[in-house]
Amino acid sequence: MNIKSGVKGLDFILQGGIPLHSSVLLEGSPGTGKTTLGIQFLVEGAKNNEPGIYLSFEEFPSQIYQDMKPFGWNLDQYEDNKLIRVIGISPETIVKDMLNPDGLFEKLINELGCKRLVLDSLSVINYLIRDEYELRSSVYTFRNILRKKGITSLIITEENDNNCFEHYIFDGVIKLRKTDILEGVPQRTIEILKMRGADFIQGSHTYRLTNNEGVYLVPMNRNIRNIPLVGTENIPTGVKGIDMILGGGIPKGEIYLIDVDSHSNYKYILIALMVNQLKRGDKVFVLLPDDLTISLLSSFFEQYGLQLYNLIKKQDLLIIDQFNRITDKELHPYILKVDELSNEEFSNFIQKNIRNILLERKNKGENWLIIYDMNAALHLRGEQYIKNILPLVTSITRGLEFTSIRICNTRETSTVTSEQIKRKSTGIIKIWSDSKYQYVKVDKSPNGFTSRPYIMEEIEEQPYFKFV
Ligand SMILES: Nc1ncnc2c1ncn2[C@@H]1O[C@H](COP(=O)(O)OP(=O)(O)O)[C@@H](O)[C@H]1O
Ligand SMILES: [Mg+2]
Repeated sequence: MNIKSGVKGLDFILQGGIPLHSSVLLEGSPGTGKTTLGIQFLVEGAKNNEPGIYLSFEEFPSQIYQDMKPFGWNLDQYEDNKLIRVIGISPETIVKDMLNPDGLFEKLINELGCKRLVLDSLSVINYLIRDEYELRSSVYTFRNILRKKGITSLIITEENDNNCFEHYIFDGVIKLRKTDILEGVPQRTIEILKMRGADFIQGSHTYRLTNNEGVYLVPMNRNIRNIPLVGTENIPTGVKGIDMILGGGIPKGEIYLIDVDSHSNYKYILIALMVNQLKRGDKVFVLLPDDLTISLLSSFFEQYGLQLYNLIKKQDLLIIDQFNRITDKELHPYILKVDELSNEEFSNFIQKNIRNILLERKNKGENWLIIYDMNAALHLRGEQYIKNILPLVTSITRGLEFTSIRICNTRETSTVTSEQIKRKSTGIIKIWSDSKYQYVKVDKSPNGFTSRPYIMEEIEEQPYFKFV
């Protein structure tokens, strides 16, 4: 079970809220908003009839009331209704009392029927108890009292290093940071470092301090959606990893760009997409990349139990070869060769032949996946030409309402071309490598969904890759 923190975005990245009865460290330098978040947490409790205590060693309650004025919370009223108590107390008192059952601390908790607690701050206790063993044992006892009493708590502390004992003792660690400057304004981020019993969304999520809503966190990777379209539900591609990073699949009729760099291997992804499409009885049209020959494709397909030649002959799979590659005689009549076509002839070929073939098949009720490699065309036919026919190709695929996937290394084009290619794609999957790993990340999608970077690992089993 979880309880709401009072910060909607934080509850979202915690996939529901703070686990009930847990004690969570709230760590950050001065001015990051720890007190604000702490009070907000208690206000949320008060709204739900869960009484809460704010224990402050550093500031007088009156100061806290004063500081929280801008946020417009009705603290006085909550105090009158015994839903929130802000208590200024000396750390010596609490330390003396901590190990003492039925002492002041437990009395306070019982008196109010306290469900939530904020301690501000643990750092003060650190200064007070110099003996390491005694310190640990006091903090440990304190946490146990909270647990025994069924209290969910936020324990405020200043900066800690990641290996400190507090990180082991408490159930969770939420880190507030002031980070880089964006357009002259310092940014603040929240990162969950640890949360027992919760599957949280990793990463540094930006938050703001706002007058009306206090701490306001914007979960990352949830961009603004393109248009609030209806009927844009994701259709699973059937490839588990791909569907996961895309948030379920690809809405029908969209154009995805796989933006690759020169080191990255994306063959497995293409093959897996093709195979899944064909296995469910749908069709594939592919303009082959230079490093994917028909014989290579054939052996990949065989591993999935598919006979490439049969699929080609049945015209479930339509292949265009842009290179003057030797193909089996048997396949000659089926492979569309375009290597001898001039640029103008090639445009006509797409506009007439290809469009007509696909239109005819669409009218038969077939569903096609269109995959085309733009890198080869860029090299063979020149950037200017590709830039010129891109709107045509885009409008043809859009008009047919088939999902299409284009592959391009946009780094090898000018910024103008690269921007155009991206703009004319409703989704972008970026694939790149450094000296250690190959990464994949969804950068854009029609429903606004983007992903964190995943490591792409090669595995033994189909589909031979995994996103971690
Ligand atoms: N509406 C606001 N917009 C931006 N900053 C604010 C707003 N209200 C308060 N602040 C600032 O936010 C900071 C948060 O304070 P506080 O919660 O006390 O942080 P901490 O307890 O981590 O020191 C303060 O420096 C305060 O000046
Ligand atoms: Mg404070």
